[in-house]
Amino acid sequence: MTSQYFVAVVGAGPAGLFGARELANQGARVVVFNRDIKPGGLAEYGIYPNKHTMKSGLRKQFRQVLEVPNLDYYGNVTVGTEGDLKLDDLRALGFQAILVTAGAQGTKWLGLPGEDLVGVYHAKDVVYFYNKLPPYSHKPYRFGRRCAVIGAGNVMLDIAHFLIREKKVDEVIAVVRRGPAEIKFDKKEMEYVIDNLDQNALDAEIERVTPIMQAVNQDPAAARATILEALPKALPKISDTKFRFEFLASPVQMFGDANGNLTQVELEDNTLIAKDGDTKARGTGNKRRLDVETVVFAIGDKVDELFGLPVEWNEFVKSASPRYPIDGNSYESPFEDVFVGGWSRKASSGLVGYARKDGTNASKAVWQYLQTKQPIEVNMDAVVERIRDLNKPVVAKEDIKRLEAVEQAEAQKRGLEEFKFDNNDDMLQAMGLMETA
Ligand SMILES: Cc1cc2nc3c(=O)[nH]c(=O)nc-3n(C[C@H](O)[C@H](O)[C@H](O)COP(=O)(O)OP(=O)(O)OC[C@H]3O[C@@H](n4cnc5c(N)ncnc54)[C@H](O)[C@@H]3O)c2cc1C
Ligand SMILES: NC(=O)c1ccc[n+]([C@@H]2O[C@H](COP(=O)([O-])OP(=O)(O)OC[C@H]3O[C@@H](n4cnc5c(N)ncnc54)[C@H](OP(=O)(O)O)[C@@H]3O)[C@@H](O)[C@H]2O)c1
Repeated sequence: MTSQYFVAVVGAGPAGLFGARELANQGARVVVFNRDIKPGGLAEYGIYPNKHTMKSGLRKQFRQVLEVPNLDYYGNVTVGTEGDLKLDDLRALGFQAILVTAGAQGTKWLGLPGEDLVGVYHAKDVVYFYNKLPPYSHKPYRFGRRCAVIGAGNVMLDIAHFLIREKKVDEVIAVVRRGPAEIKFDKKEMEYVIDNLDQNALDAEIERVTPIMQAVNQDPAAARATILEALPKALPKISDTKFRFEFLASPVQMFGDANGNLTQVELEDNTLIAKDGDTKARGTGNKRRLDVETVVFAIGDKVDELFGLPVEWNEFVKSASPRYPIDGNSYESPFEDVFVGGWSRKASSGLVGYARKDGTNASKAVWQYLQTKQPIEVNMDAVVERIRDLNKPVVAKEDIKRLEAVEQAEAQKRGLEEFKFDNNDDMLQAMGLMETA
């Protein structure tokens, strides 16, 4: 038996998969544990469903990662204080280092009155819902005729896209805490919804906030032009949904009816304060209400506080004086053998390419740490036994191949570009890991 470094990677999104491959290519024996049955993370369950070319290209790359011989995959296994395995269980199995690439699974709520009303959601849950991730795929959602989406990032536009082109609601209002010059979304994402944008409402809104913008030396006309950059490539609208922005406004509370259903969101107007070359939103005390049946918070995510690593603000705590910094970043948790990468290092930050690079960098830090240890005689039998003792169906890489083949055949049969099972039982049955009821 040859000696190898033995590493556990938690999470099979882009950061975990590419980080795991890097370690395996270095010669480590790598085991990837993933909460979801399928690999891919937000590349599978976040990226908008109609981006078929991008998604199938990424799936192909993920398949290639799973082909690496000294890399094992266990899907449907959650790691964490309340998971199937705890960090200490992984240590007890002999893993010399643990790379946490579990994304940012916590929910960033603002703690406002009314957040528990029916019709108030966090964007991640909605995104998981329309991308068919169990159990979100089966949760009831109340998408009303008038919907507010809080935030001005690409996730806000993805939610607007879903509400405008799938749900075809009457009105979508993007509520943005700063002004038109601080939008974070890209032109490309705006192309899907800009044909529904009420340009008169946009002009009126920009006129309303112009004095505040000018007071901090912002150019309202330039901001307007940036928002409208997507117009030449606008996708023709397929609904009568009116899409508009409310700038310089923050939600402060939500109101519901006797049945607990959301009826209104109260907004506080903001002004802009120039600070350190940027701006900050500050409430003016002026409040008003919007009649809405749905509010979706698209304000970014936070890491999972129950994972078993200390959390500060929205992120896992990183060592401030890392032993193995890569590109000036710390990938080290306060535990010497636990490293973090991708959205687990920096929540809601960047695209798939960023997560891939960050996961790879994290694995470089892991590799440097391993050089201070001796390789060991890896006992995979102990891992297999521990997994068997979980008494639940666990998915290996060969199973994933079968699942993909079944889903592709189903898509062909139904004449669809893509077919995706939306619950675990169907997936497990398709892989032969569960008997058909
Ligand atoms: C709505 C949305 C749309 C996006 N669209 C695009 C786009 O169009 N193009 C683009 O380039 N980027 C897009 N992104 C960004 C991109 O998806 C992310 O940058 C990237 O997926 C982050 O990778 P990650 O591996 O760090 O985390 P994730 O992709 O979140 O992967 C985390 C993995 O960890 C697993 N996991 C979680 N908790 C545990 C646990 N406790 N135990 C075991 N496993 C666990 C999950 O099952 C998942 O597989 C989008 C993001 C969002 C939110
Ligand atoms: N199609 C794509 O390529 C795609 C799709 C989705 C996501 N992504 C990527 O995924 C990452 C995350 O996207 P994201 O949209 O979640 O994040 P984001 O781009 O950081 O946008 C978050 C938005 O929420 C606002 N916000 C944050 N905290 C708030 C609060 N307390 N109250 C009110 N508003 C608040 C922010 O405003 P401030 O600016 O004032 O902080 C910002 O407008 C980004 O890198 C994004 O590009 C890409």
